[in-house]
Amino acid sequence: MPMQPWFSEAKLGIFVHYGIYAVDGVPESWSFYTGQVPHDRYMKQLDGFTASDYDPRAWAGLFARAGAKYAVLTARHHDGVALWDTDQGDLSVVRQTPAGRDLLAGYAEALREQGLKVGLYYSHSDWNHPDYASAVHPDPPNEEVRANRYASAAPGQEDPEAWARFLAYRNAQVGELVTRFRPDLLWFDGEWERSEEQWEMRELSELILAGNPDTVLNARMLSYGNYSTPEQGVPLLPPEGPWELCLTVNDSWGFQPQDHHHKSVRQLVRYFAETIGMGGNLLLDVGPREDGTIPAEQAARLEGLGTWIAKHSEAVYGTVAGLPAGHHYGPSTLSADRRTLYLMCFDTPRETVSLRGLRTPVTRVRVVGTGTELGHRVIGGLGDVPGVLWIDAPEAADADELATVLAVELGGELDVYRGTGRD
Ligand code: GLC
Repeated sequence: MPMQPWFSEAKLGIFVHYGIYAVDGVPESWSFYTGQVPHDRYMKQLDGFTASDYDPRAWAGLFARAGAKYAVLTARHHDGVALWDTDQGDLSVVRQTPAGRDLLAGYAEALREQGLKVGLYYSHSDWNHPDYASAVHPDPPNEEVRANRYASAAPGQEDPEAWARFLAYRNAQVGELVTRFRPDLLWFDGEWERSEEQWEMRELSELILAGNPDTVLNARMLSYGNYSTPEQGVPLLPPEGPWELCLTVNDSWGFQPQDHHHKSVRQLVRYFAETIGMGGNLLLDVGPREDGTIPAEQAARLEGLGTWIAKHSEAVYGTVAGLPAGHHYGPSTLSADRRTLYLMCFDTPRETVSLRGLRTPVTRVRVVGTGTELGHRVIGGLGDVPGVLWIDAPEAADADELATVLAVELGGELDVYRGTGRD
């Protein structure tokens, strides 16, 4: 399926891991799967989940100020607890927590009011469903998947009927999400515990697209995904096709009160610039407290990133991947008409900034955000091999505290030299 253009144009999304795990501040779902927390204590968090200050409009406002164009909220994580009033069983925050209400409708509405696209996360796996651990992956990615009692049937205990019931439950839940909330994007997870055939991925994708043919699907729909989803680890080469790096703002997906290891705004600007410079989106994750509030230190990171993006928006939105490594010491983006290159400079430029291998003549260089023009000249080059463009470094007043961006305006469409130099 062709990718929806909004996705590649979005550049920044906000990922939200919100669930009962925020009550005790333990790792989402994994804490009972690994035995870090006994299962009954994990489930006891249902009693403490209040969503008492849940204000999706405040979230949407913050995400819009961050510069995001979409968000993705955990509708149901591997723990099986639905954030909406599912008709498939009782395990939802609506029926089993003091919150007592659906949390998705207000979220979808608030995002749309801000012009943001609506994403919902849904885990294929459900470690709490009685029929889930009834099958075994024919070729599991690791032994834990085969051995874990929440994930897989014990040897010889497979139960195809139970597995068929699970798939019917999964299809019905995803159907509810599609018809009730009309998400623009469905972000699947947990695919590693079964094969594509066991998941009946084709049927699932048909069901979703019959409800809304424009739904964007991530790669955890295996062959049926539209884009790849590198997680936490940054790619060194741009993945093929549309892609999105998902990254936690600290070290945790959900709220964990002891985790103050937040990335600085300067670091976030780097992750972001490097990602869009390779044509990807950044999906930056926050973990709200059980009451629904986003911790101040996380909100401040989003605001800080948003301030930098707002000042440099022409270098962000409407751009495509910039130069491959080697031309400029930092990432770059390129305007859609391929006539303006945006060079990101993370360190304060000293004396000059160089750009190598540029064939297209330069008409003007200016500092994005202040408009100050900078002197520039080409030195050297022979025949086919272009000279080096030397740009005068901006004065201190024109340098940005986090990352200075230089717009290099070209007299034609970008053309670069990629060779080994003249013999
Ligand atoms: C992993 C984890 C999960 C988290 C997800 C986000 O797959 O299982 O806890 O939600 O990554 O990408």
